[in-house]
Formats: sequence, structure tokens, C-alpha cells
Amino acid sequence: MTAPKAHILAIDQGTTSTRAILFDGAMKVAGVAQREFTQHFPAAGWVEHDAEEIWETTVAVCREVLQARDIGPEGIAAIGITNQRETTLVWDRASGRPLHRAIVWQDRRTADICTALRDAGHEPAVTAATGLLLDPYFSGTKVKWFLDNVDGARARADRGELLFGTIDSFLIWRLTGGRVHATDATNAARTLLFDINEGRWSPEICDLLGVPMSMLPEVRDCAAEFGETEPELLGGPISIRGVAGDQQAATIGQACFSPGMMKSTYGTGCFALLNTGDAPVTSQNRMLTTIAYQLDGKRAYALEGSIFVAGAVVQWLRDGLGVLQAANQSGDLARKADPAQSVTIVPAFTGLGAPYWRPDCRGAVFGLTRNSGPAEFARAALESVAFQTRDLWQAMRADWGAEADTVLRVDGGMSASNWTMQALADILGAPVDRPVMQETTALGAAWLAGMQAGVYPDAEGFAATWALDRQFVPAMSEPDRETANDRWKRAVQAAMSY
Ligand code: G3P
Repeated sequence: MTAPKAHILAIDQGTTSTRAILFDGAMKVAGVAQREFTQHFPAAGWVEHDAEEIWETTVAVCREVLQARDIGPEGIAAIGITNQRETTLVWDRASGRPLHRAIVWQDRRTADICTALRDAGHEPAVTAATGLLLDPYFSGTKVKWFLDNVDGARARADRGELLFGTIDSFLIWRLTGGRVHATDATNAARTLLFDINEGRWSPEICDLLGVPMSMLPEVRDCAAEFGETEPELLGGPISIRGVAGDQQAATIGQACFSPGMMKSTYGTGCFALLNTGDAPVTSQNRMLTTIAYQLDGKRAYALEGSIFVAGAVVQWLRDGLGVLQAANQSGDLARKADPAQSVTIVPAFTGLGAPYWRPDCRGAVFGLTRNSGPAEFARAALESVAFQTRDLWQAMRADWGAEADTVLRVDGGMSASNWTMQALADILGAPVDRPVMQETTALGAAWLAGMQAGVYPDAEGFAATWALDRQFVPAMSEPDRETANDRWKRAVQAAMSY
């Protein structure tokens, strides 16, 4: 098992599956292993993951991808970790055992805590420090829930026996055999506990939420030394040298390094980030302000828009309505839709995210006729993703004020659909660029680790490797675009007032 120490192992711990992606010295994918894991829904609006299952799938996919290529630890220059963000874990410092299942980012159980804090007037100060809103999406109120609801947790936390972390921290802790309790600035920025202006945990917010600061991980750069893996896990020690939350990793993987550059990732949901450079921009339009990456102690900021339903609407067409056999048929079906009809779907299945932030809103369909059928539903479902992206695009560009790029870089499963990406270009009125490399999230994490290890180029060299697969150019007339967008806006208003 010998190989030049030129490969990078990226771990992408996502919401529904854990993946290990092996990159070679030329930053090309050399192997992929993936395992899905259980989603737990213990009550309406609650979503949990078993951290032990996440851990087992992580070790399993790493071993699998290394074995498949017959590469041992001596062939791996570094590990990069990217992960579902905000998902919250509390574990025992001594045993490493979680106290409870992880509370997933989608979980709404802390909505009342958020409302109470908002009613007490805390939101402006929290937003000023963290760039976030008082929404259950973020980790802070989830930690408070743990401490208030798990037997004995608060007393144990006060005694310094418990640790908090997002999934990256937990994996680092476990991989290093409990020697390192750390996170990176992008994951810290999603916790609601981190002051993104100062680049440190906020004592005021920790106090407000009753979170002892002894629980918090140390915050490092995205490319940094995060410790070595326990030798017996992967056949020998490997250094962890890159960490970023998945949406930030995709921003990096898309080489959006210059202010004004924007990417949009289409997974279950859709997350768009606009690089705003070295200054955080406060949104006037209910966008989030976040850290895009931190390298050499310098933070780059981003505006972020989060939509909770994107690819999920295609799953609904397939599994809920049964009008598709497979998700990749959606574009072909949409293409057959009657151009004279204007069916509109607002896919607010779990509420609306940015810029509306209406957890109580539910989905709606408008404009049905006696002739509306599967094709019209498919077109409306795919268009809803484009309309939602346009909401984010306009809000972020309005917030930033400076000259933003007129191109949107896309990735994620849905970006493979030519029909959807053309609809997106039409509805945005802007070109949409799809790169050759579809593994942008894993690549972002791999690049951080590889650069830190000295086997991958610097940011400029990396950006030069970004290659276009296809550019989608708007083909819709301006009046048609305006009519379509007006129709969408009316539909959202109607859904919100239902
Ligand atoms: O903020 C949540 C996001 O990080 C989840 O991404 O791709 O795991 O669904 P994903």
C-alpha cells in the first residue's frame, strides 16, 4: 500500500448522508463512498440524528474509499472536513458520549425560545453581533434546549463536564481521540454564539442563552492544523487540515474569492452566498451575514440566503404526487407543459426561509385549470426554485450596493437539470454558470486541507482551475420576465395570508 503522499481525503457529512471523497494530486476525484443514515422525527417539527450513527458512517466511508483505491494513510496528505451546519451536539468531555441525539438544523423545537427572546427585544443586538436572526435554524437556542431539558445537563455543563459542538467539532474530537475540541470560523458563525465582527465567542450572547463558555470549541482558520487521527481508525495517523461548513465549502469550491461573486447550491434546500469581501454587510432585506472563510486569520464575509425547499420539491413530485419515476425526469416533463397555462407552486412545505422567514406558512398551488396535469405541476415546481433564487439574488444585490457579478455559479444535484438551469437564467435575467466539477463542496474542503498541506495551489492558482461546463443565457423577454415574477410575488403573498 504505497502511494505518493498527494491525495486528500474529504469528508462531507451532510444532512441525509455521509460521504468520503478522495481527491488526487491534481484535485480530481479519485473515489467516492457514501452512506445514508437514519432521520429521526420524534415530534412534529423535530428532526434528530444519532451522532453514533454519523460517526460510524464517517469511519466506514473513509475506510471504504481508501480500500477501494488501495491507498493507506501514507498516501494521504491531509483530511478536509465539511458538514451540515448548525446541527447541534452536546457530549461528555470524559467519555466522548453524546448526551442526546443531535438536534438538526431543520428542527423547529426552539421556536418559542426565539419568540420570547425577540419579544424581549434581543434580536437587534444578536443580529449585530452574529449576522443571524432569532430563528430555530441556528445552534444557540438548541444548546439552551439541551441544557434546560436533558436531565442533569445544566449542572454538569456548569461543572465543565460537557462539550458543545457542531458536527465538524464532534468529528474532530472523535477522529483525534478526544485530544482536540475545535471548530472553524464558518461553522462557529452559524451557532448564534459567535461574534463575526470580533471573531470570538460572544460572552453576552452565551450569557443570554445560559451557555457556559467552557463548553465551546476553540475557533481556528478554515485551513489550519486540527490534529491527527487516532492511528487505529484509518491504519495510521492522518492530519486534519481543512474545515468549513458545507455552504461555505461550496463557495470556496466554486472559487468565489472575489467580492461580488455569488454561488447557489441546489440540494434539498438552496443556499446562495455572495462574497462581500473583508467587511460584513448588514442586510436590510432579511438576508444573513456570515463568514465565507477565514484564512491566515483574515475573515471574508458573505451575505447568505437560505431556501428550505429546492430539490425537495422534485422529491415531492416523485414521492408525494407520483408524477415522476425518477428525479432526473422532471425537466423532460416540465418541457411538455402547456405554455398557455400559468400554474404556480409556492413550495412552503416547512415554512418560508429567506427573505420571508415565515415558519408558519404552508405550500400552495395557484392557477389550476381543468387541463392542468403532471407537466404543468413539474414546470411550476422547477420554476419555484428559480423564483426563490431570484428573491435571494435581488435581496443580496440590493443589500450589498456595490457592483455584484452578473453571473451566478451553480452546483448541487438540481444543477444537473438543463431545463431548470435555463429557467433560472430566464427568471433571473442573468447568466448561470455550471462548472465541470460537480463536487464543489467536497472540493472546497479538500482544497483547504491540500493547500494547508502544501500539495495544492494557493487561492489564485486554485481559482484558475475552475472550468465551465455550460453557461445558460437568458432567453426570456424582459416583459415576460416581469409578468412571471409578478405572478410569483402574488402567489407568495396569497400563501402567506392563507
Ligand atoms: O445550513 C444547513 C446546510 O448546511 C445543510 O446542507 O447539504 O447538508 O442539506 P445539506
